[in-house]
Amino acid sequence: MKVDLSGQVWAQFEQAQTRAKHHLDEGRSEEAAAEYRRCANLLRQYSQYAIDASVRKQRLERAEKFDQLAARIQSGLMGQAVSESSALDDYRETVRGLVTKTDVGWDEIGGLEETKREIQTAYALALARKPEGVRMRSPRNILLYGPPGTGKTLLAAATSHELDATFFNVRVSDMLSKYFGESSKLISALYREAGAQAPSVVFLDEFDALTAAREGDESGAERRVLSTLLSELDGLDNKRKDEKHYVLTIAATNIPWQIDKAVISRFGARLIYVPLPDEAARRAILEIEIERKGHASEVSVAALARALGGYSGREIEAVVGHAVASMVRRTNPDLLQQASLGREALAAYTLKVGVLTVADFESAQMAIRPTTTPKDVARFELWRQQIEVE
Ligand SMILES: Nc1ncnc2c1ncn2[C@@H]1O[C@H](COP(=O)(O)OP(=O)(O)O)[C@@H](O)[C@H]1O
Ligand SMILES: [Mg+2]
Repeated sequence: MKVDLSGQVWAQFEQAQTRAKHHLDEGRSEEAAAEYRRCANLLRQYSQYAIDASVRKQRLERAEKFDQLAARIQSGLMGQAVSESSALDDYRETVRGLVTKTDVGWDEIGGLEETKREIQTAYALALARKPEGVRMRSPRNILLYGPPGTGKTLLAAATSHELDATFFNVRVSDMLSKYFGESSKLISALYREAGAQAPSVVFLDEFDALTAAREGDESGAERRVLSTLLSELDGLDNKRKDEKHYVLTIAATNIPWQIDKAVISRFGARLIYVPLPDEAARRAILEIEIERKGHASEVSVAALARALGGYSGREIEAVVGHAVASMVRRTNPDLLQQASLGREALAAYTLKVGVLTVADFESAQMAIRPTTTPKDVARFELWRQQIEVE
């Protein structure tokens, strides 16, 4: 049986790094260089556990840097002035890779009027100038919870766009699996970069992946990630307290009850429920998906909104997409033949569009079924009541 020793290797690496820094502080260059070499070797070992080729490469490159650092210390060029910040800078590129462009406007989100207002109030409180002598705690953390496909990502993107902020799009589960033992440093680097590029929105999707230490967390990596994140959410970094360095964290989850109580408490009153769309919201989403995308329909959006009870925004989008595809196939019977003629023929061919019919929507509704059950909804409602009294 192959045993995963990556946690141990990582722990050894961290110990070597601590020793290296200590030697360096005390002016023992020879010993420091030796420990940095050890760091390099351990990182090379550690890189073999990476599943992702790009992560492996990143670790190998970092190992290389430790070797260079060791060489420089030995040659006495840097003397006491050597800092480790170059090693932390390695994360900077990774963190910058999380920056995503968003141009989602509030008007592209159907319904959720109250939710939008709550988010807007949060950042307005934080960003508006306070009268002389008045101090207020302004909200910096928001948790959006609710069934999948209800617009949580959209809301975060629209907030960022509205604030003209740098949008850091982080899927917590990916981060934990890709960077494992390094996740905690990555979070520090993330918030450092967000502060530097402020105003920023840090979007932590699938936030529930960050639960307290699970079994098998021998290296303590997950616990470390959690405590790093908690201190970032507490905003202990003084620089970020003023408006010039505004960093808004928006976390999102479909399973809020799996999140640690200690973590939930960091969000104070900013726990915002993003429910399945009600009839008015479904109608608003349908208008966005049908009318604003230039389609004509023989079924009114009002009738469709009534028929699609229990569907999430994403599912409504899929229903319309399915109906549009049926219509396109019907109105362009020669499309496949055109496709066989190659790209040039296709570029010269203009699609014919027709009216979306009752049959188009009926088959779409048969193909796409809502996945969130009334029981699921009840669970969200219950959790909501629970946190309100706790
Ligand atoms: N309220 C909404 N208004 C318009 N479109 C929506 C809405 N909710 C969901 N959608 C559609 O579903 C897709 C997925 O939504 P998303 O924000 O990623 O859901 P979540 O993050 O809650 O799982 C969006 O890209 C959008 O096309
Ligand atoms: Mg999402």
